[in-house]
Amino acid sequence: WPRGAKREDGVVTIGGLDVRDLAREYGTPLFVYDEEDVRSRAREYVTAFHDGDVHYAGKAFLCTAVARWLKEEGLGLDVCSGGELAVALAADFPAERITMHGSNKSVGELERAVEVGVGRIVLDSFQEIARVGYLAKEKGVRAKVMVRVTTGVEAHTHEFIATAHDDQKFGFSRSSGAALEAVRRVLELQQLELVGLHSHIGSQIFETDGFEVAAHRLAQLLVAIRDEHGIELPELDLGGGYGIAYVPGDEPHDPKDLADGLRSIVSRECKAYGLAMPRLTVEPGRAIIGPGGVTLYEVGTVKDVEGLRTYVSVDGGMSDNLRTALYGAEYTCVLASRSSDSGPMLGRLVGKHCESGDIVVRDLWLPEDLAAGDLVAVAATGAYCRSMASNYNFVPKPAVVAVRNGASRVIVRRETQDDLLRLDAEVGA
Ligand code: LLP
Repeated sequence: WPRGAKREDGVVTIGGLDVRDLAREYGTPLFVYDEEDVRSRAREYVTAFHDGDVHYAGKAFLCTAVARWLKEEGLGLDVCSGGELAVALAADFPAERITMHGSNKSVGELERAVEVGVGRIVLDSFQEIARVGYLAKEKGVRAKVMVRVTTGVEAHTHEFIATAHDDQKFGFSRSSGAALEAVRRVLELQQLELVGLHSHIGSQIFETDGFEVAAHRLAQLLVAIRDEHGIELPELDLGGGYGIAYVPGDEPHDPKDLADGLRSIVSRECKAYGLAMPRLTVEPGRAIIGPGGVTLYEVGTVKDVEGLRTYVSVDGGMSDNLRTALYGAEYTCVLASRSSDSGPMLGRLVGKHCESGDIVVRDLWLPEDLAAGDLVAVAATGAYCRSMASNYNFVPKPAVVAVRNGASRVIVRRETQDDLLRLDAEVGA
């Protein structure tokens, strides 16, 4: 739950505002972000990595308001498409604090990144090295780039969100020698300035050993590059992936411990080989934006499937939260609009979409008297929910509201059916 959330007499308040009022004013389903929660987590990372850089991973959730909050808190921004870059620029995010990612950036996306002068382009393939080299030459600039390395670390998380083992699409593998070959090719191109190596091992990870093994292997690569080319790369980007609490038992990282651990591993390695300590960058997305977001839904139907469980249907579902269907993600959910004295029932929170896999919370206890019109709140939906939302079944995407100091405002408006119909080229034809 957001730091500014409370539950009194069964009613949830966020940032001092009663969720019943929020639902009345803005409708449901509704994403509510506690701005102070997001800002304070961002500040904690900036403080912990005071001698490095913290880049927020915009894929977790991005709109111009969030980009401005994080700009004000001193973070950089990681974008992975032309669309995310456009949002960042619309928020006047300084281009030199933006890192451009992506495993298959289009020529148009790369061209825009070079043109606006993003701070770093993370190179992900041999084709891309040539493309960025060509574009930088054409525009008469020297582009700052990093080489993305897959370190061979098997992160302990869902297979769809682990990214550093060998058999997947990202980056250049360390073990096959592709990473060192990429470095060679980048160094041959005058118009590219190689500032460092990048690695991202996966997402929603709790153990620190994976990050530490990756940091260790990257530091060794820096040594190999020094030995081969006589240069010391000044930066090391260790990506994001820090897990957050969705359900009891999930134990998030303390940013300071994380920073101390990573710093000491890289520094030990560098000392051993006489390298200067590189500047560290991390790219947390979920850890900054996830806990501060809550989804409010209104209950529509309650169906007791005899002897099994009770299906509680809400007015959203897999179109605003795909994570349960896609990764088997777990969430915490409460009745948010009133107190109840009735006993618990085993429930399953499901959506309004036309499939059985349309599940928001697979197993949960809710009061037996739960009824149509009640509001339920699902915690920690700030990351990868609105940003992965779809229009499945022609359902418009929910609005996003920010709350702070007892005031609320829409930061992304609710889609309407007209918004969707406007894209149909033959409507009214
Ligand atoms: N940096 C890079 C290069 C990344 O690819 C990612 C996430 C991050 C940073 C931020 O990771 P975070 O700190 O947020 O874990 N849709 C999935 C997560 C996919 C993450 C993709 N890359 C989910 O809902 O769990």
